[in-house]
Amino acid sequence: MVPMVDLKKQFHEIRDDILKVLTEVLESTQYILGPKVSELERRIAEYHAVSQAVGVASGTDALHLSLNALGIGKGDEVITTPFTFFATAEAILYTGATPVFVDIEPDTFNIDVRQIESKITKGTKAILPVHLFGLTTDMEEILKIAKKHNLKVIEDCAQSFGAGLNGKKAGSFGDAGCFSFYPSKNLGGYGDGGIIALHDTAVADEIRKLRNHGSKGSYIHERIGFNSRLDEIQAGILLIKLNHIDEYNRKRRQHAAIYNELLSDTVRCPVEKKGTYHVFQQYTIRSPKRDEIQKRLKENGISSVIYYPVPLHLQGALKFLNYKEGDFPVAEKAAREVLSLPIYPELEESVIIKIAEIIKDVV
Ligand SMILES: Cc1ncc(COP(=O)(O)O)c(C=O)c1O
Repeated sequence: MVPMVDLKKQFHEIRDDILKVLTEVLESTQYILGPKVSELERRIAEYHAVSQAVGVASGTDALHLSLNALGIGKGDEVITTPFTFFATAEAILYTGATPVFVDIEPDTFNIDVRQIESKITKGTKAILPVHLFGLTTDMEEILKIAKKHNLKVIEDCAQSFGAGLNGKKAGSFGDAGCFSFYPSKNLGGYGDGGIIALHDTAVADEIRKLRNHGSKGSYIHERIGFNSRLDEIQAGILLIKLNHIDEYNRKRRQHAAIYNELLSDTVRCPVEKKGTYHVFQQYTIRSPKRDEIQKRLKENGISSVIYYPVPLHLQGALKFLNYKEGDFPVAEKAAREVLSLPIYPELEESVIIKIAEIIKDVV
C-alpha cells in the first residue's frame, strides 16, 4: 500500500544521528526540559525571526496555553475556521471561551478574511486563523483587523512549519504561533510535542509557568497551571530533523508541482496565492467525484484521506454551539469534495504519475 507518509524511509536516512542523540539523552538522565529543549527553543525562535519559543507537550497545548497566557477565558469569543482539525476548537473551549466560526475561501480552504469583521462583537477577544494544509492565511489583512478592534491573534501552525508569506514565516505574524510536532507533520517528532513562537517575553514567561504547574520552579506556584512539558528525547530528535526541514519542504513542493502539472485539467488542485510559500503538509484536491476517486485509489493500493469529512460546526460534540447545516456553505461543500493524496519528501515521481493516471481515468 502506498502510505500517506513514509516515516520509516525518513528514519532510515537519519538513523545514525537519531540513535546518537537518543543515547546522549539517555546517558544524560535529564529527560524533561533539559538542554535539548532549550536549544530547540532557541533555534526555532531564530528560524522564525522571533525572540521567544516555548516547547510544550502537543500542538493542542500550544494553542490552549497561548490563549490562556494571552488572557482569553470564560465569556470571551474567539473567531476561527470551521474547516480544521477538531483540536483548534477544543483549545478555545478548554479556556472557557467560545469559538465563533467564519466560513472559508473555496480555493485556499483558509478562513475568508473578508467575512471576519461581520462576526466581531463586544465579546470578541481574538482571531485564530489556521494555515491549513501548509498554506499561510492572509495574515496581513488579519493583523489590520486585529489592530483596528484590539484583538489578539493566535496562529494555528500545526500544519505549516516552514510556510511563509511575503518573506516572513507562518507563526511569526501574530501574538503566538502554535506548532505541532505530531509525527506526521512536516517537522514531526517520534511522539507528541509542540512549540509556541512569539515576540513578547512576558507572555512567553507566562506560558513557561503554565506548562509547569504555574511555577517558575522550586515548588513555588503562582497560579494553577498544567503539566505540558516537552521532553528531551523529542527535542533531540527534532533538532536533527530541523537541520533537514527546508529540504523536506522543498521536496514536498516539487512533488506538488508534478501533481499540479498532471492533474490541473482533471480536478481542482491546491493554489498558492501571491507571496505565499506553501509547504504541502497535505496535497488536497477537490472533485465532485471524490468518493469514486478514493475507491479506485484504494483498489490500486494507494492511500488517501478526507481532511475533513465533517466541518466543526456540524460535529456532534459541538452541537451546543447551535450551528446548523447551511451556516457555512463553502466549508460544507469542501467537506464533500476534498481528498488528500500521498505527499512526503521521500515520495517517488513514478508513484505520483501512477496516482495521477488513476484519477484521470476515473474523472
Ligand atoms: C490544524 C491543527 N491544529 C491543532 C492540531 C493539534 O496538534 P497535536 O496533535 O500536536 O495536539 C493539529 C494536529 O494534530 C492540527 O492539524
